[in-house]
Amino acid sequence: MKIINYAKQHISKRDILEVTKVLKSDFLTQGPISKSFSDKIKSISRAKHCTLFNSATSALHGACVALGLDNKSLLWTSANSFLSSATCGLMCGSKVDFVDIDVNTLNICPNKLETKLKNSKKKPDVLVVVHFAGLPCEMKSINYLSKKYKFKIIEDASHAIGSDFMGFPTGSSHFSDITVFSFHPVKIITTGEGGAALTNSSLLSKKLDLISNQGIERNQTLFKNKKMKNCSWYYEMQSLGYNYRMNDIQSALGMSQLNQIKKFIKKREYIFNYYKTNLDTKYLKLQHISSNVRSSYHLAVTTYKNKISKKLIFKKFLNNGIRLQTHYIPIHLHPYFKKLGFKKKQFPVCENYYENSFSLPIYYGLNLQDLKKVVKVTKDIFY
Ligand SMILES: Cc1ncc(COP(=O)(O)O)c(C=O)c1O
Repeated sequence: MKIINYAKQHISKRDILEVTKVLKSDFLTQGPISKSFSDKIKSISRAKHCTLFNSATSALHGACVALGLDNKSLLWTSANSFLSSATCGLMCGSKVDFVDIDVNTLNICPNKLETKLKNSKKKPDVLVVVHFAGLPCEMKSINYLSKKYKFKIIEDASHAIGSDFMGFPTGSSHFSDITVFSFHPVKIITTGEGGAALTNSSLLSKKLDLISNQGIERNQTLFKNKKMKNCSWYYEMQSLGYNYRMNDIQSALGMSQLNQIKKFIKKREYIFNYYKTNLDTKYLKLQHISSNVRSSYHLAVTTYKNKISKKLIFKKFLNNGIRLQTHYIPIHLHPYFKKLGFKKKQFPVCENYYENSFSLPIYYGLNLQDLKKVVKVTKDIFY
């Protein structure tokens, strides 16, 4: 039986050709194609600077380091996300806390954020907002709160390349300090593994470049040891960095994928609307898309009202050749975070959503026959 997964990459002949060209070239890493890919990301998202990373996780860590997080700092993020939105703070030795989500958008709830800010003695240094399932957060009110309570904003836009908020493309970092994309295979476009950090600040951009590449300075005018100017072999490590670089093989794939992004998102939007039209809201509810945003439709997250066990739902779908996924196990309920003191019922909207939701298949390669099957199986289980 053919298995329909919840997500799948789409690799075209052109993608393979572009990757092959790099494999036959002189540079597998740090060559010209990475610069072109980074320029192309900047142009579609209208940010001034873009640093490529080898994952969104490393880009999020890089963003936290660039913003100066350390063992005295505090990072807040959405409880409904993948681990990296929170572990990037832990990697800097910072404390981490969460904000509950809005029941309709499933994004961080601006009202709950404001209440928590009012009631907390220690305010966050950084807030990581997550554009969950490709739907941008309410960035205007979050940006207002960041000015009032003096915290920095990282947009975890791992799901959301190609989306926009009030006409500002995600990645423009119009309402934030840094925006991060993921190019993992299940995302909107892929580089196998990969990520990017975008900013409008030249200072942050410089830091992100150094953090991604071992802290190595090659600009002669910035050498501390002035005597070493014009020595072709010379470079200086001036700050702590990592090998978080993306290579040119990945960039070639990314560049070719980015050329297809409009087509990818159009198909995802069609699939999302197909489910919306064909599934009865009496039983099942899809994520609410606000009127001032354009989603990239990364996931078709669906909440159900029936009292069926989640385990049984997953089993029934799989018996019919459909492999669902869940997004996400609330971060604070993982054993590692429980050891840090987090408990059940701390973020009830997120926990309740997790217990009553799953993600239906959504990806470019799904055809109408697949969609009809998914809808039929869903109806058989829930109606
Ligand atoms: C919201 C979110 N943030 C961060 C990440 C980490 O991305 P990567 O796998 O590129 O490190 C993911 C990956 O699934 C994610 O969904």
